[in-house]
Amino acid sequence: MATKVIVSLPGEDDYAVRIGVGVMSALGRNLREVGRFSQTKDALVITDSNVAPLYLAKTRESLAQVGFKVADIVVPAGEPTKSIEVAAEIWSAMAQLSLGRDCLVVALGGGVVGDLAGYVASAYMRGVPVVQVPTTLLAMVDSSVGGKTAVNLPEGKNLVGAFHQPSFVCADVDTLASLPEREWLCGFGEIAKSSAIDSDDFFFWMMDHAEALVAHDRETVAEAIARCVVFKADIVAQDKTESAGVRECLNYGHTLGHAIESSTGFGTFSHGACVAEGMRFAAFAAQGILADTDGGSLSDFAEAQAELLDLLGLHALDYDASIEELVAAMTHDKKSRGGEIRFVLASDVATWKIVGASPDTVRDLLREWRERA
Ligand code: NAD
Ligand code: GLY
Repeated sequence: MATKVIVSLPGEDDYAVRIGVGVMSALGRNLREVGRFSQTKDALVITDSNVAPLYLAKTRESLAQVGFKVADIVVPAGEPTKSIEVAAEIWSAMAQLSLGRDCLVVALGGGVVGDLAGYVASAYMRGVPVVQVPTTLLAMVDSSVGGKTAVNLPEGKNLVGAFHQPSFVCADVDTLASLPEREWLCGFGEIAKSSAIDSDDFFFWMMDHAEALVAHDRETVAEAIARCVVFKADIVAQDKTESAGVRECLNYGHTLGHAIESSTGFGTFSHGACVAEGMRFAAFAAQGILADTDGGSLSDFAEAQAELLDLLGLHALDYDASIEELVAAMTHDKKSRGGEIRFVLASDVATWKIVGASPDTVRDLLREWRERA
């Protein structure tokens, strides 16, 4: 069974996100059904060194079957590959392959490959189309949809990039069979985030289906992906370039989450575990900042969210970073403005607000949070 979600954004061609078990084998056929690719000859698959041995042959075959002339580039797996140097190597390789403006870039992999290949496509010959074939849960539920592409600089993550919407997204749940458990947790963090920000319907569906998700039940996983894509498509439609104060809600849990990741050393905890901890804190902080109640006991929402995160295996974190280190990391985050730290706070399901808080306020909240833990 496959689900198709159509993403309709202002000023962009609509695109389909096809989600299901085994949908990768129909990738080529599906692309030929997209008007602009009916005659396309050249397809360049960009993938990484972990994904290539698993899914490159299948992807190439699906494209070749419908007449694409396929080339591929395999980059080293891992975040350091999301660099301007690797992007430049790919641009040179594309020029040497004589790829023109009528070529198609296929991003096969997780968010690293998706962001890198998307950025490469956004700039090559002033822009060629990109198709996202996400192979991590995180990429399926978040990064492959919405058009954010970027590479990192030594000065920070995602500092150079472009908005470049994909022309098609193919999320084959079968590819998740090989995904390491830690990467599943990264996906679960983003799914939990989406459900808490979206609606009672999604949040309580998650409560009911957390066990099946943790067991990697394929139909449940596919439905969770579809729900996230519908949610994200709606948010991005309201605020495509994150300038209207809506898309920022997707950063729920990420302010403290990123600070924990950088203060404890990237990789110490999974991104999902850090986002989950950030969500717990954001729900706690909402009580003090939004509801103006004391932090003595957790709100019903904060309790329910904690229960969901526990069910997903995203337990409260025990980590070493000091409050000063965390505040410093949040103050230097590229999303902070005018010395204020920006948080998405949620006081209930689907009830969120973006607030700027001074470092002193955040310091006090973190202290209260730690004292009650
Ligand atoms: P990733 O791309 O590094 O993938 C995680 C690991 O899993 C890698 O080692 C990869 O090789 C491996 N892998 C991928 N698919 C696999 C599979 N099916 N089986 C086995 N191994 C597989 O990490 P990620 O979590 O997918 O993405 C993180 C990146 O996404 C970050 O750079 C982040 O900035 C970016 N991101 C972008 C957006 C956006 O909107 N553009 C949103 C969220 C995150
Ligand atoms: N993952 C955040 C965004 O796409 O805006």
